[in-house]
Amino acid sequence: MPKIKLENCTRCMKCVIDCPSDSIDIKTGNIASTCIHCGHCVAICPESTIFPDTGSIHQLKSVTISPDDFKNLSAGLRSCRNYQKKEVPVDVLMALVENSKHYPSASNKRPLGITIVNTPGNIQKLNDYTYKLLTKTLNLAISPLLSPFIRAFVPSINISELKQYKKRLLKNEKTNRSFICHNAPAVLLFHGPVSKYSMEEADANIWATYTSLYAKTMGLGTCFIGFIVKAFEQNKKLRQEFNLPENHTVHAALTIGYPKVGYTNETSREKPEVFFM
Ligand SMILES: Cc1cc2nc3c(=O)[nH]c(=O)nc-3n(C[C@H](O)[C@H](O)[C@H](O)COP(=O)(O)O)c2cc1C
Repeated sequence: MPKIKLENCTRCMKCVIDCPSDSIDIKTGNIASTCIHCGHCVAICPESTIFPDTGSIHQLKSVTISPDDFKNLSAGLRSCRNYQKKEVPVDVLMALVENSKHYPSASNKRPLGITIVNTPGNIQKLNDYTYKLLTKTLNLAISPLLSPFIRAFVPSINISELKQYKKRLLKNEKTNRSFICHNAPAVLLFHGPVSKYSMEEADANIWATYTSLYAKTMGLGTCFIGFIVKAFEQNKKLRQEFNLPENHTVHAALTIGYPKVGYTNETSREKPEVFFM
């Protein structure tokens, strides 16, 4: 629980007003058990007299990123599928992972774990398991037995596109042993419990997105790998192979490394449809 040192408190009420769970009694300095440990009270206190559950208070610097800077950063953040043969130092990977203490989580539950896969053997294992499952699923979908049903009941799945994709996979198989992981020197797995009613998947994708932005500022490239998420979803053995905690699955996966390529041009792409009501 955060602690309020009442002797320095000026009763400005900022913490009380900003607390999302109405947990603060400023008369007594008590914080109720409804507290979700979000740290807003610590962050807002002008006297720095509310102390966090863990760690100490650091003054925030003012933000110097302009809207134009952010637009430029977003436009230059492309999926990286070409990596240099260069390890990402463990302290850099740890810095990336540790910054997730600042990222949002539904109800501030923070149920995620992050597994850093950075040994060539384990990355290859992750790649091969996922590739095997992908080809198995693809073969099943385009099989003469199943494809008529898919055509009839899931018309959004284009069987001839899948067949083309299969051809591409077969062609690639001979030359590319890292079709899934793109020869990246590290893969981050964002995992959490499997549950119907919580929002681990949203948390994981938000954390992975922030991580890719932070990585970009360090000169690193990243790529979301949805195939890995699907492989863990389908295969419980894979969860054990990668020592995930009981009941965890991977909700987001990012390859990470120093990019071999750079981009100089902004690409125009379709904007989302916008509605007002
Ligand atoms: C949820 C998600 C899953 C993705 N899965 C893969 C994947 O398995 N393999 C891959 O090479 N790219 C994957 N991508 C990258 C997309 O293909 C990429 O974002 C898209 O082509 C746009 O390119 P850009 O990221 O360079 O802007 C994924 C992206 C997202 C957001």
